[in-house]
Amino acid sequence: MQDVMSIIDNGVRIIREKTDFEPEIGLILGSGLGDYAEQIENPIVIPYNDIPGFPISTVVGHAGRFVLGMCKGKKVIAMQGRVHYYEGYSQKTITLPVRIMKRLGIKNMVLTNAAGGVNKNFAPGTLMMISDHINFSGSNPLLGENIEEDGPRFPDMSSIYKKEFRDTLKEAATKQGINLEEGVYMMLSGPSYETPAEIRMARTLGADAVGMSTVPEAIVCSQMGISVLGISCITNCGAGILDQPLKHFEVVETANRVKTEFAKVIDIALEKVIF
Ligand code: HPA
Repeated sequence: MQDVMSIIDNGVRIIREKTDFEPEIGLILGSGLGDYAEQIENPIVIPYNDIPGFPISTVVGHAGRFVLGMCKGKKVIAMQGRVHYYEGYSQKTITLPVRIMKRLGIKNMVLTNAAGGVNKNFAPGTLMMISDHINFSGSNPLLGENIEEDGPRFPDMSSIYKKEFRDTLKEAATKQGINLEEGVYMMLSGPSYETPAEIRMARTLGADAVGMSTVPEAIVCSQMGISVLGISCITNCGAGILDQPLKHFEVVETANRVKTEFAKVIDIALEKVIF
């Protein structure tokens, strides 16, 4: 617990030594979306390496830094790169950045990820707003001693992903010719992709997409009273839906193919949805 609190305190102190900018919206940029942070105006950059004990990603292509500044008229703090549970950190550790962002002042959070499609109507390239999640990761970021100042021991999880955000975003995106689906995201620990039987199980249990991130961050946001907008890029059909093996490069390829559209959706969310 001491460790956890000292990483949070160090993070807040080190960022505050660099800037008194007070972000209102957090952005966690998933696979292929890291570039989005490049459009933040007058960026204040803090490499995760500057914060002692901060979880650092081992995955190639996940640069690790906070970027603070104005984006579409809103005060944001973006995480360019994030750590995943499958890298071996506890879910408490991977969600420390969210607790730091809360202490810097954020009230809302945009969580993005790449995900496998479970709903057979979702072709690769589909963008899906997360309406709810199923935590099938086998862990929980709130395990262990509760950080009382952040929220209750047994927090409500009945409306993590703010419906108003989804409804407003859907309407605004449609006006701009962008189709957004909506569905339930199931997190599994990874790093192996699912088996065909696991994808069928996910569907039976009510999931529309599967992935290896987002749920821990969403749980911590909900505990702390931060409203969440979650968007998944469906990069591939879940295992067994098509008669072919699943390849990581296809995930990366699809994420790259739709990243302009994905960025546009985040633009709209910042401009018109989140206040
Ligand atoms: N499964 C789990 N995580 C993923 C997938 C998948 O098929 N695609 C992208 N992230």
